Amino acid sequence: MSDVLTVRGLSVKVRDTTLVSDVDLTVGAGERVGLIGESGSGKSLTALSVLGLLPEDVYAGGSVRLDGVDHELIGADERRMSQVRGRDIAMVFQEPMTALNPTMRIGDQLTEAMLIHKTKPKSAARAAAAELLERVQLPADALRAYPHQLSGGQRQRVVLALALANDPSLLICDEPTTALDVTVQALVLDLIVRGVMDRSSALLFITHDLAVVATVCERVLVMYGGRVVESGPVADVFTRPRHRYTEGLLAASDLDTTTRRLTTIPGNVPPAGKFPSGCVFRTRCAYATALCEESPPWSGDEAEGFACHHPAGVTDA
Ligand SMILES: Nc1ncnc2c1ncn2[C@@H]1O[C@H](COP(=O)(O)OP(=O)(O)OP(=O)(O)O)[C@@H](O)[C@H]1O
Ligand code: SF4
Ligand SMILES: [Mg+2]
Repeated sequence: MSDVLTVRGLSVKVRDTTLVSDVDLTVGAGERVGLIGESGSGKSLTALSVLGLLPEDVYAGGSVRLDGVDHELIGADERRMSQVRGRDIAMVFQEPMTALNPTMRIGDQLTEAMLIHKTKPKSAARAAAAELLERVQLPADALRAYPHQLSGGQRQRVVLALALANDPSLLICDEPTTALDVTVQALVLDLIVRGVMDRSSALLFITHDLAVVATVCERVLVMYGGRVVESGPVADVFTRPRHRYTEGLLAASDLDTTTRRLTTIPGNVPPAGKFPSGCVFRTRCAYATALCEESPPWSGDEAEGFACHHPAGVTDA
């Protein structure tokens, strides 16, 4: 499996405050990788760094490389990033209206997405737009609709069609179904998975919802305090977590309920810049010792490992 996205030593800062530290992340062709963690863990900033869409005053360091793009994405100018976005990397965010033009018909938005990046000639773009709608299970007459004439779930399917328009090598989804009804969620998730599997695109999928990650992703990275604290195959991390934060997340989420909110780990996530030194989780961790005042080293490799001095699953002799 060739690597599509390679992130190394990613850091994100606003003035003197570090928001994301030392994130390594690789997503292979056709691989579906989840990024989970409580609110404020740094998930969206990681994704926005890859897309070159960080807010003003917020800066990324480290390296982000994309297969087939010969330049470094960190620090690339807006002209270069706007060529990569929508063509090589596509995105679906929580709120579909941020990606749609309310004054343009859906068909025109889809054809424009292909014409901007010159991935289809004008003569073929209209038929390709109809095919894209078919891929997201919308009828061809939706081509003539304006966004306000569609439901929230239909709009998000149009956003997915737009994202798939140029066969991106990487799709980034940030809470794509959080604002949708549970019944619509399942369809949209299924379409996302099929959309990337059809073309062996890589998927980076951000969510609060562990059940969603378990459905969509093969591998998962757990973030807390702007750091990756654990990574591995979903089946392993969700059944045998090693980091105490992952263990807490799993204990706090009842996968059988409809709420699935990760709100019951004791204590609150500190504001950015106020995480403790050493292990960032130590102020909330029931297993913390004096050793945890030192940063725990990473055990394992990037695809599968964790950083905890007293990991779960180790029994004292
Ligand atoms: N423009 C900004 N200026 C200052 N701090 C910011 C800025 N954007 C984000 N942050 C802070 O960085 C931290 C990480 O934010 P991020 O949006 O990546 O979290 P997240 O994991 O995506 O959370 P959520 O699940 O709520 O979306 C948060 O503490 C947030 O307040
Ligand atoms: S390193 Fe220490 S404080 Fe951090 S999660 Fe592990 S046991 Fe808890
Ligand atoms: Mg976010």
